[in-house]
Amino acid sequence: MKTPLSDLPPLTEPLRAEALLAWLKTSDSEALEHLWARADELRRQGVGDEVHLRGLVEISNRCTRQCAYCGLRAANRSLSRYSMSDEEILECAHRIRDHGWGTVVLQSGEDPTFTSERVEALMRRIKVETGLAITLSLGERTGEELRAWKQAGADRYLLRFETSDRALFQRIHPPLPGRDSDRLGLLKVLRDIGYEVGSGVMVGIPGQGFESLARDLELFAELELDMIGLGPFIPHPDTPLGMREPPRYPDQVPATVDMTFRVLALARVQRCEANLPATTALATLDREQGRILGLQRGANVVMPNVTPRRHREFYSIYPGKAGLHETAEQTCLQIDAQLASIGRYVAAGPGHSPAFRRRIREQEGIP
Ligand code: 5AD
Repeated sequence: MKTPLSDLPPLTEPLRAEALLAWLKTSDSEALEHLWARADELRRQGVGDEVHLRGLVEISNRCTRQCAYCGLRAANRSLSRYSMSDEEILECAHRIRDHGWGTVVLQSGEDPTFTSERVEALMRRIKVETGLAITLSLGERTGEELRAWKQAGADRYLLRFETSDRALFQRIHPPLPGRDSDRLGLLKVLRDIGYEVGSGVMVGIPGQGFESLARDLELFAELELDMIGLGPFIPHPDTPLGMREPPRYPDQVPATVDMTFRVLALARVQRCEANLPATTALATLDREQGRILGLQRGANVVMPNVTPRRHREFYSIYPGKAGLHETAEQTCLQIDAQLASIGRYVAAGPGHSPAFRRRIREQEGIP
């Protein structure tokens, strides 16, 4: 479908699903150039030229869940499992602070050894010892736990809803026995607690159709997300969705770099004041250009991996992850050079999203 630029809806405000669908499907090259330029412009207006660096610590690859797409799923017996100690995690947080970055992101599978009390104590220690902003990405946890962690010092929470297609979500994401999985509900809970809230989707999950992807983008606006993480689906051979040639679904969204850039650029149209990372999954599919093009097509955040190298190869949510053998220092030098070449620079400070800061001001009645 080669809808020309002149027939496409203007990119001046958040779009509805039908308009988003036209942008996702057009093959007109002039239209795509316009989309990239517009996303870059909205990024500058919404969040400026600064790029925020977040130190990512993958604290455990143990997981009780069976997500059909993820290499950390419990049934994957070919993976060595690790779980970092509190001391190891704190050491990483100190390294992040020493780099001068403002945020530590702790990510893991759903690992029951990270009990509510343990994470709570960890939040307190990280806050007291480093003063960093803390982002958690520990999967589906209870409202009670999330509340306790926020009180203890956590600032942000990332939980991708992965797809708005309920039937597809249920197929690829079996709930724990006796528990319902309601990520959209949890996102509301997180917001009510006062977290800066991030979510997002994978692009090109087998069975994902264009209409649902357009609806995902519409949801980014409805949920008023503060952060949006997006990456291409990358098949992991040790998972049910890892087959080389998945069945041909009608209207299948391709898991390509191009399609991920479209979703990223449109996410910027939907939420111009949100923080959007150029994700590792994007850099994995396009090692040369993924990150820098991401930053020029809507993104304003990079998350260098500071997980100790002996653990890193085992956090294989998908294969061939970019930056596996790089030190955080090397990633950093590369980022500095890349940013300088496009007139952008690394920001200081915690880097809360303007979307979140506006919400807090409004809640407190400050004009
Ligand atoms: N390909 C791409 N992204 C994946 N994720 C998990 N498995 C894969 C995969 N095979 C993403 C999910 C999850 C995030 C931490 O990683 O979107 O929310």
